[in-house]
Formats: sequence, structure tokens, C-alpha cells
Amino acid sequence: PRNIFFSRHGESQYNVEGKIGGDSLLSLRGMQYAKALPALITDNIGEKPLTVWTSTLKRTIQTAQYLPYTKLTWKSLDELDAGVCDGMTYEEIEQAYPDDYANRDEDKFNYRYRGGESYRDVVVRLEPVIMELERQENILIIGHQAILRCLYAYFHHLPQADLPYIKIPLHTVIKLTPKAYGCDEERYTLPI
Ligand code: F6P
Repeated sequence: PRNIFFSRHGESQYNVEGKIGGDSLLSLRGMQYAKALPALITDNIGEKPLTVWTSTLKRTIQTAQYLPYTKLTWKSLDELDAGVCDGMTYEEIEQAYPDDYANRDEDKFNYRYRGGESYRDVVVRLEPVIMELERQENILIIGHQAILRCLYAYFHHLPQADLPYIKIPLHTVIKLTPKAYGCDEERYTLPI
């Protein structure tokens, strides 16, 4: 059976500062994750072939840099575009756009950032990625929180309303094994 692995990028500079979006580099801890990831993956996959997919953002490319596999970058895997809120903390967003902040809480799946995207928009732009994923063998996706929530919900058939709240922690590899109905899942958290 084939496997699909998901991992968020290692902790980024923006993660440390509590800022959303952007294109920051990894923190020191994030770099430690990037260095520890190859052993976890190769132990798991053994001799089987694997392809690594990243977004075009620096933090995913940096996280993948030590992995000894073929890599492909997808613009469609870039993080949900937070529009005018890109680079802000949640506190700053609540201050600057209190109505938007409340609306997002009300319907997180459909809420679209000003000049940016909603989770619904992201699900649509991920369609070609999912089509390709269905045709491939073993794939490791080094992605972003919102993106991996959408992909995870697709493979586990989770409802749209729950999708934006799925827990995809940092420094954790999620291994899915697609079955006739649904997927088996294992999670590996690196103590970093
Ligand atoms: O904070 C990291 C991050 O990936 C942001 O770039 C993104 O806007 C956010 O998570 C998505 O999570 P939520 O939809 O819960 O705000």
C-alpha cells in the first residue's frame, strides 16, 4: 500500500513572533526539525521511492532541504493568502478589523480575508494537487497549516465546518495509508 505523508514546515521566524502568512525563514528550532526529518522518513519508507512536494515559500523549501529525494514545488501549496492581514498577529487583526475578526469566528470556512482567500478558495485551488496525489505513489508534502487541513479533510472525508479547526501541529509527520474506504493514520512527533 502506498503512503502519503504530511508535515508542516519547521517552526518559522513568523511562528515565533505569532505573525500569519509572510515568507520568513525557519527559526533555529525549525532548522533542527529540518535536520531530523530525513532519518524519520527514511526509517519509515525504507527502500520505496518517494517524492517530496513543497510550496514555493522559503520555510517549506528549507524544511525539505536535507531530504534525499526528488522534490517538486507547487504554487498551489502556498499558505492561505491572508490579504491585508498578511504579516499581522491575531491581536493586531482584532484591533484593526474587529468586524472581520468576529465574522471569521462565525464562519471560518467561508470567511475570505480582504484581498485574500477563504478556506473554500483554498479547497478549490487544491483540486489539481489532489488529482495528482491520487495518481501518484508515495508522496511527502511539506506544507502549511491551512493547506494541510484541507488535504487531511479530503482524505478523511471530514465536513467543511470542522476543516478549519483540524489540529496539524508543528514538528509532526502524519502518515496516511489510503484504504478502500477511508485512510489509516499514524503520527510521529519529533521532540524538538
Ligand atoms: O500561523 C501560521 C499559519 O499558517 C498562518 O500563516 C495562517 O494564516 C494560519 O496559520 C492558518 O490558521 P488559521 O486559519 O487557524 O488562522
